[in-house]
Amino acid sequence: MNILEIIDKKKNKQELAKEEIEFFISAYVKEEIADYQAAALVMAIFLNGMTKEETTNLTIAMANSGEILDLSKLNKTIVDKHSTGGVGDKVSICLLPLVASLGVPVAKMSGRGLGFTGGTVDKMQSIPGYKTDIDIHNFIENVENIGISMISQTLNLAPADKKLYALRDSISCVESIPLIASSIMSKKIASGAEKIVLDVTVGNGAFMKNIEDAKMLANEMIEIGKLANRETVCILTNMDEPLGYMVGNNLEVIEAIQFLKGSMPEDLKQVVLELGSYMIKLAGLGNNLEENKLRMLEKINSGGAFNKFVEMVKNQDGDISYLIDTNKFDKAQYIEEVISTKDGYVQEINAENIGKIACGLGAGRIRKEDIIDYSVGLKLCKKVSEKVTKGETLGIVYANDMKKLEIAKKQLLDTVVICDKEVQRFPTIFGICK
Ligand code: URA
Repeated sequence: MNILEIIDKKKNKQELAKEEIEFFISAYVKEEIADYQAAALVMAIFLNGMTKEETTNLTIAMANSGEILDLSKLNKTIVDKHSTGGVGDKVSICLLPLVASLGVPVAKMSGRGLGFTGGTVDKMQSIPGYKTDIDIHNFIENVENIGISMISQTLNLAPADKKLYALRDSISCVESIPLIASSIMSKKIASGAEKIVLDVTVGNGAFMKNIEDAKMLANEMIEIGKLANRETVCILTNMDEPLGYMVGNNLEVIEAIQFLKGSMPEDLKQVVLELGSYMIKLAGLGNNLEENKLRMLEKINSGGAFNKFVEMVKNQDGDISYLIDTNKFDKAQYIEEVISTKDGYVQEINAENIGKIACGLGAGRIRKEDIIDYSVGLKLCKKVSEKVTKGETLGIVYANDMKKLEIAKKQLLDTVVICDKEVQRFPTIFGICK
């Protein structure tokens, strides 16, 4: 078999055989196929798509490219969570300690930022000392001892995804249903999840721009889950405006800490409670979704969820004094407000633009080798539909470079669209697919 024939086939819209997909994945991981050849094939897949069978074969080949974690010694149903990506998406940091405090074991492998969207690993690394690259033995031990561990994809789990994920990001081939479905489901299968809850984001700040595409992606992942014997539930959530108020790495961690202490932005609260209620149900710890939500709120109010977060950070060598006093986090050198020039109602805050502004400030990577600046980003002071008066603060820019600050301030002012008439808020949860 030869990679040129495989590229040629996909370029000519032909279906790839299971063996061809397996050959590509195995040779790419062994570095017998160059990045430029893999890039050509990925671009052909991006443009010409894959059949359901091809996507399933790609997923299984990627899952089998490394170890498959065996979590059976934990003797509990392992329910994993993943998001298809968003802007201001700090859901994992809020949700996972919360469900862990209710007894749902959490063994979570997260990704880095992709495209204009942020990544949980980058955010967690903004906590000084917190180790995301622990070995498999420690990872399992942590879940066994305290019920939760959140790490990066450093273990030898789905290494093919790790390579393809970075490659796709660097050649603008992210927004593809077969590539996203195989990327997410291969990781989930490899990391030992028996049941999976997926946050499938929809809107301009997501990779799926409309509900029809999001449903197609959700159904594809549910199908793969069925074939791999992993029950999968997808929650379709709105990503037309950023989630919560903060965008940027340590800024989002601070918002997540405040959430766990009881200060919950409404949209973030709805997403966390919806996903969590299904995680608790799939873990076999409560069939009534509404009751599960109440139990989660109780854990926030009692401090149990925050304490679980502190326990996890401490267990992975993070400096917990930052969680107790968030003023300790590094602050950007320039922190400046953006002021509204008119009265009206917020009609739109395009999440993709906000993600790109944050990236421009240094919160994300333009090239895969870029170093992230943890302290930069944005705070939105208004959400869509809120009333604004001239002179009020629309948002705050956190920058470490004067030129970037000025660009971001102008971009933020252009992105928060204000109109004269009252604006209806769109729902946060669009629906559930299972
Ligand atoms: N998250 C992933 O893990 N993979 C993708 O392709 C997109 C979002």
